[in-house]
Amino acid sequence: MVKRLGRDYGLVRCADPEAIHGQGVSKFVSWNLPVHHCWPCNPQETPGFIEKAAQALVRKFGDAHPQALMIGALDAGSSNRYYRTLASNLRGRALQIFPSNVCEIRDAEEQAPELPTLFCLIGKEGLFCGLQSPRSCGGFHPGGTRFIRQNTPETISRAGAKIAGALHQLRLYRPVPATGANWLELGASPGGMTAELLNRGYQVTAVDRAPLDIRLKGAAGLHAVIGDATSFEPAKGEWYDAILSDMNGDALDSIKRVVRLCSNLKPGGLVVFTLKTAGVTGYDALNMLETSVVSAAADANLDRIAGVHLAYNRHEFTLFFERRVSL
Ligand SMILES: C[S@@+](CC[C@H](N)C(=O)[O-])C[C@H]1O[C@@H](n2cnc3c(N)ncnc32)[C@H](O)[C@@H]1O
Repeated sequence: MVKRLGRDYGLVRCADPEAIHGQGVSKFVSWNLPVHHCWPCNPQETPGFIEKAAQALVRKFGDAHPQALMIGALDAGSSNRYYRTLASNLRGRALQIFPSNVCEIRDAEEQAPELPTLFCLIGKEGLFCGLQSPRSCGGFHPGGTRFIRQNTPETISRAGAKIAGALHQLRLYRPVPATGANWLELGASPGGMTAELLNRGYQVTAVDRAPLDIRLKGAAGLHAVIGDATSFEPAKGEWYDAILSDMNGDALDSIKRVVRLCSNLKPGGLVVFTLKTAGVTGYDALNMLETSVVSAAADANLDRIAGVHLAYNRHEFTLFFERRVSL
């Protein structure tokens, strides 16, 4: 690593920058950006910083036609708001003088995942900018993470933030299931994810050996099943648009339970799978576990779309699969 940038970033020099996007590496990198322009100054001590930085961005990237301009703070979690305000002010000024084809995005999810955005990060180490698509960066926001509240009085479990974060991330690769879509959820108790899915207008069959939180009793769109996923049988003729698995225990056992139920997953259907890694340490062991899970999933014609470590994941990764359309 060449230099630490704030608490969350490292400036690294790579012999092969493309390797960052490979299956064995990308899930360990939350967000990345090639540095096409940097100004290693202390912005707080640089007179006229905003105007000079904005003019430099237009000079360097004005002809590159980025779809959007996203600027964030290197230390986004800091209680000191100085750099978040500076980021917002720099973005405002740059948009005023940028050629008119850069759109004013109100929600980061409005970006086309595959088109280049000009992302910038700013902090006491200076300004770091690069042109890359949100998909290649690994997130729509500078730094990748969307803040999701985990501790409101309505929160059933922090897993609700996990599926919210996963669905946000999924938009990098494919559209999320439409409102009204039919989900099968395995390992649902106490029901943080179930509540989040129901809030989005989905139908949910929630299976767990343990009951759901009492607050979900009688919830519209919910079919709660107390039992083991190993022996759960969907109703005759039932088709799911998506399967979500957050079962704890051995990841290979969990994916086999998902695979068995994939005969009821529509072609093109989605699987969101929490890859639990308790007891597995080291990059090689984690990659071997993922490879075994991906290979077991392929038996049910499930193709891996992506693997991510969400801000809301602990000792686990979130894997996305899609059921092949032509079987
Ligand atoms: C991490 S918790 C799930 C949290 C939940 N997703 C939420 O949103 O609150 C894991 C759950 O998996 C369930 N589980 C593990 N193996 C299972 C199996 N074979 N069948 C049904 N449930 C299982 C456990 O009972 C436990 O409730």
